[in-house]
Amino acid sequence: MVIFEAGQAACAIMLPYAIKQMMDTVAMAKEMKIDVFAHVEESLWLFGLLNLGIVLFSRASGSLLVMAGPPMRRMVRRELFAYLQNHSQRYFLSHFAGSLANRISEVSMSVAHTIWTVLFDFWPLMISFTVSLVLLMSVHLDLALTLGMWILAYILISFFLALRCRRYAQNYAKARSLVSGKIVDSVTNIMNAKLFARRDYERFYLEEFLDQEVNSARKTFWFMERIRWFQFTAAMILMLGVIGYALKIWSENGMTTGEFAMAASLSLMLIEQARGLSRRFLEFFEYVGNINDGVSQIIQPHEVVDTNNAQSLVVSRGTIDFKMIDFSYVKGNPLFNNLNISIKAGEKVGLVGVSGSGKSTLLNLMLRLFEPQLGTILIDQQNIKTVSQESLRDSIAMIPQDPMLFHRSLMENIRYGRLDATDEEIFVAAKKAHAHEFINESEEGYHSLVGERGVKLSGGQRQRIALARAILKNAPILLLDEATSALDSVTERHIQESLAYLMHDKTVMVIAHRLSTLSHLDRIIVFHQGRIVEEGSHLQLLQLEGHYAKMWSMQAGGFLPDQKEIVFDNVN
Ligand SMILES: Nc1ncnc2c1ncn2[C@@H]1O[C@H](COP(=O)(O)OP(=O)(O)OP(=O)(O)O)[C@@H](O)[C@H]1O
Ligand SMILES: [Mg+2]
Repeated sequence: MVIFEAGQAACAIMLPYAIKQMMDTVAMAKEMKIDVFAHVEESLWLFGLLNLGIVLFSRASGSLLVMAGPPMRRMVRRELFAYLQNHSQRYFLSHFAGSLANRISEVSMSVAHTIWTVLFDFWPLMISFTVSLVLLMSVHLDLALTLGMWILAYILISFFLALRCRRYAQNYAKARSLVSGKIVDSVTNIMNAKLFARRDYERFYLEEFLDQEVNSARKTFWFMERIRWFQFTAAMILMLGVIGYALKIWSENGMTTGEFAMAASLSLMLIEQARGLSRRFLEFFEYVGNINDGVSQIIQPHEVVDTNNAQSLVVSRGTIDFKMIDFSYVKGNPLFNNLNISIKAGEKVGLVGVSGSGKSTLLNLMLRLFEPQLGTILIDQQNIKTVSQESLRDSIAMIPQDPMLFHRSLMENIRYGRLDATDEEIFVAAKKAHAHEFINESEEGYHSLVGERGVKLSGGQRQRIALARAILKNAPILLLDEATSALDSVTERHIQESLAYLMHDKTVMVIAHRLSTLSHLDRIIVFHQGRIVEEGSHLQLLQLEGHYAKMWSMQAGGFLPDQKEIVFDNVN
């Protein structure tokens, strides 16, 4: 493309030269009274060939653009997405999904635009400047040098003005993405707006940010408009000056009529292009600003990374050891302090504690979604920090507190547990999770789509799909975080059998607020504010008459109350 664009630019800027040849021939033929057509043929050929050159070169470069453009955009998106995927959980919790996706598209567009601007605007212009200055010099050195210097100054000034415009453009981009962010937030919370009858309020709320966008847009455009005043006026003066200068030279017989025509049209073309170029600068810096913004959001150092020679985790027995773990989500607010837990191979452990006591966090640490500030976590005596994250998470099946599904068919969602599972295996897993019945009742069965994050399913149905997925994955370590909390007691009882079957040869950690689901486990650990306050089997804990016994007696088959006071007053 670099070559073709150069060719095209060179042909275009040579046109005035062909015209000069023609005019000189015509003038001479008239003077000497000879046949014009006999002599003008050569320059006509040149004129025709140059035009043909323009067509061929520009279309060749156009075809290359068609071939290279879309794959390039794909490459940018693919690379950014791949980089994004490796970010930590913490990163995703503090960035909006919609805005990240938006950034990726914007960057890929802007990268393309930046490259095209350089290739199709800046580069051909450099060629035409050089060629036309050489042509002009052949006619009149002084004219060429004066014009060359003028244009250089003009471009430099435009460049620096455009640079100053960047700040405005960036503010404008920020205001734009703020508005998108607010709209996305409002749409995601449309349920709240409906429940509290706040539709008008939401529109009113958005208005403020729309106003900000309008203001910063106006500031940017006014600044650009001022730059354009300079550009247009300066270009006008330049054109008049050059034509006047060339006329003067011609009248003093410094050049032929043909040369005058060439000099005049070259100068006008050059000035016209310089004016176009300075407009390009403004766009160019806008694209660069967009890329800068998007890249600095996405290309940040990864927080959780595999070590250089990370081995695959090999789970043969399934022991889990937390050793002297210190962890805090935010600095200065420690959740775990010197936490030690040791779980034997095949042991089934229950975790209980009031809401916010750190149960889910413990599982997050095990999955290396977050990293402890101090201490180590060992699985079968292998430090999870030194094994690859993929192999670690491959060995653990987790049903999260609030399972999310892809907006893909139920079949695909269940198959996510093991990509090479046959349809038959999927049906078996779904039956074990008691999902088969409701799936078959739905209109399209296993091919129904479940909506964004699985919103078209009830909470309990989503949990059963997540369970089927975990059954299919059949990993040696199983983590259940309130996996059956949304189910009615009858369905839960049915599922307990499947769960018991699933658990029998695995190391298992179960979090539940409904204590009856834990009573049959080998050991129950009671958490309070990140500390272990009691542990033992259900019966041992009841005999202890401590926190657990208290919770148990308060749960007449119901749930653990949320307030710490109720549970823990007069126990300590
Ligand atoms: N991403 C996060 N950033 C900062 N703090 C967090 C984050 N996730 C959880 N926390 C805090 O850490 C504490 C423990 O949270 P965790 O989710 O482990 O509680 P939990 O025991 O699972 O509670 P629940 O029974 O309600 O699920 C809470 O105080 C919570 O506010
Ligand atoms: Mg939790």
